Amino acid sequence: MQQDTILMEEKYFVPFFNKIPISIERGDGIYVWDEDGKRYIDFTSGWGVTCLGHASPVIIEAITSQSRKIIQNPSSGLTYSPPRARLLGLMADILPGKLSRLFFSNSGAESNDAVIKLARKISGKTDVISTEKSFHGRTISTVSATGQAKHRDKFNPLVPGFRFVPYNDIHAMTAAMDKDVAAVILEPVQGEGGVNIPDSEYLEKISQLCEKNNTFLIIDEVQTGFCRTGSMFAITDLDIKVDFMTMAKGIAGGFPFGAFAVSEDVAQKIEKGDHGGTYCGNPLGCAVAYAVIKHMVDNEIENSVRAAGKHITDTLKEWQDEFPGLIKDIRGKGLLIAMEIRDEKTAGKIYKTCLKKGLFINVTQGNIIRLFPALNITDEEADEGLDILGEVIASIKKT
Ligand SMILES: Cc1ncc(COP(=O)(O)O)c(C=O)c1O
Repeated sequence: MQQDTILMEEKYFVPFFNKIPISIERGDGIYVWDEDGKRYIDFTSGWGVTCLGHASPVIIEAITSQSRKIIQNPSSGLTYSPPRARLLGLMADILPGKLSRLFFSNSGAESNDAVIKLARKISGKTDVISTEKSFHGRTISTVSATGQAKHRDKFNPLVPGFRFVPYNDIHAMTAAMDKDVAAVILEPVQGEGGVNIPDSEYLEKISQLCEKNNTFLIIDEVQTGFCRTGSMFAITDLDIKVDFMTMAKGIAGGFPFGAFAVSEDVAQKIEKGDHGGTYCGNPLGCAVAYAVIKHMVDNEIENSVRAAGKHITDTLKEWQDEFPGLIKDIRGKGLLIAMEIRDEKTAGKIYKTCLKKGLFINVTQGNIIRLFPALNITDEEADEGLDILGEVIASIKKT
């Protein structure tokens, strides 16, 4: 059965990916099963998305009850919607700093694309400073904003006006700043770029630099948002002025959904017709996002994320002490964790062997193993996955 699925995808799916020859039929919490009944542990949560685990009853209930009422409104965003209003009210309470208004999209790239467009229009300036190793999406404007040549340069000509500086380097950012810069776009922790965590004062300094130069600050929380790093947003506890913040991934636990928030200052400068879309936060998406976020807030998921993150990171650090030649670095925030392996070949071997033994992990930047399991993972579940990873690392060390 699994083979039939694989053959069909191989025949008709546009071949963008080096596919994994496993066809997943169902999931439950941190576990998934392939069509032949083999069970796997998912330490990727569908790339940072299924934050409440697979087949979460919270999400099932929200989808079922809302889809019985209405999925998409007549005239979509032009009409009002109780689930949208509820979600707006809930999110307004958790938004950091002076962010106060929201709009909804279907993905992270779509949110970033919208705010880049709006930052340019409102400021009347053209340029955007982004950082090396950043990742902001795969639309033409967001690949143009992405600081990785491999994702970007084959699509020339790109959207013009993007400049790149090294991440976590305030001097480089200051040197790149001038009167043409409409916005700086930044991930508070670079995810796809290798889980790069900036110095504690970096974002504050960037915010001050933007204010001084009358430049918008766009924070991309697509990967870090919704408790992934141990607080509702990675910037929640920072004293920074953010003009735009983008969100997706964990926002609706696997239902495709995204959002962007703006400050009141920005909202006042937006004009009718500046943005829109077919979905604009349709009732179904809003109901699911509301259920997911409410569950996070009511259950103080942030605390368990910090504890689970520490539990996993402590174990990885013990392995690093044991195998310093193999593991170059362990870093992470909450449940966004990286284990940097000495070389790409070894990282690839660890990845493949884990998969054979029933564990999904992710490798980014060739040699960085990224672990980002569901946010409600228990220590016992984490240990089950870590046992496999530890065994694989020990066996590779011996070879
Ligand atoms: C920081 C960041 N921004 C934007 C995106 C793009 O999001 P999406 O794939 O939902 O378009 C990603 C995806 O990995 C991301 O990590």
